Amino acid sequence: MSLYRNTVWFLKGLREYTKGGYEAAAKHFVAEDLQVDVTGKSYMITGANSGIGKAAALAIAKKGGTVHLVCRNKDRAEEAKEEIVSLSGSQSIVIHLLDMSNPKAICEFAETFKTENKLNVLINNAGCMVNERELTEDGIEKNFATNVLGTYMLTRALLPALEKEDDARVVMVSSGGMLVQKLDVSDFQFEKGTFDGTMAYAQNKRQQVILTEQWAKSHPKIHFSVMHPGWAATPAVRSSMPDFYEKMKNKLRTEEQGADTVVWLAVSSAATKLQSGLFFQDRKPVSTHLLLASTHSSPGDEEKLLQSLQDISQKFSPCGL
Ligand SMILES: NC(=O)c1ccc[n+]([C@@H]2O[C@H](COP(=O)([O-])OP(=O)(O)OC[C@H]3O[C@@H](n4cnc5c(N)ncnc54)[C@H](OP(=O)(O)O)[C@@H]3O)[C@@H](O)[C@H]2O)c1
Repeated sequence: MSLYRNTVWFLKGLREYTKGGYEAAAKHFVAEDLQVDVTGKSYMITGANSGIGKAAALAIAKKGGTVHLVCRNKDRAEEAKEEIVSLSGSQSIVIHLLDMSNPKAICEFAETFKTENKLNVLINNAGCMVNERELTEDGIEKNFATNVLGTYMLTRALLPALEKEDDARVVMVSSGGMLVQKLDVSDFQFEKGTFDGTMAYAQNKRQQVILTEQWAKSHPKIHFSVMHPGWAATPAVRSSMPDFYEKMKNKLRTEEQGADTVVWLAVSSAATKLQSGLFFQDRKPVSTHLLLASTHSSPGDEEKLLQSLQDISQKFSPCGL
């Protein structure tokens, strides 16, 4: 079954996720959707020093938004800020240092942030594909800690701030890679069997989709969306998937093309006319399952994901999410 899913997914990717796929889709984009002024609005982007996150930060800064760059490395964050300031002319770019795999730090950061700032839009972009099974200082598997637990905790902690604003949004940067995975609630931290970083990442990205769907139901005042950026030439792809990068490098999207739907979901009024909780690719809602793939999860398993994340958060964080 997984061979079927992987093959169908890769063929779909060759058609849709490449630069050619973006260019074909872009023929149907409505240019006015992105002709907006978001001065006065506050955007938080995790993993904003690089790739898709940095491209989205620049695009939003150019439209006048205050952009909070959440990054784990001071030098890389400052370099990105300098570039964004110089290309956008905006001075409203703020750095926050945070490791998204550290539950306690996320809690402390969110608590302070909420008291000092307003937040209109949260873009959960930071992500990683660690190819060996590694643990964080807290003993949490690194892909899960960053892609799922960190994203869950930051979002949960910031929901009250978002709920105070009109037109609040959460945009989750997932991956089409999740299409090959069904939610597995038996082994969140990949303790069983042989570890496969690509499959761990895809499982994490499936979990992000389900979290988004669940939050959309439980928080109707906020517009949630989750998206796939396509295959874009970013540092993560070069370092985590070197063989894929070598084979595909002439076909990959630019970082700006990868960020296009993130920006569209974050700023356009067209995006929020669509139902909350959908999965997007190139500004369009698309299916969260491949044709004939048995990747649908039961309501019980989805509830178990939420409950497990809440339990793990409470174990590590002092702020009692
Ligand atoms: N590029 C693609 O083709 C593609 C396809 C599907 C999905 N995505 C998703 O797109 C998102 C952005 O990735 P990208 O391709 O733009 O790669 P990227 O340029 O490497 O960006 C990833 C960002 O996440 C940050 N990050 C990773 N772990 C972190 C942590 N523990 N704490 C804080 N920040 C952390 C990185 O920081 P450092 O610079 O410090 O490492 C970097 O800023 C990811 O969620 C990825 O899964 C990308």
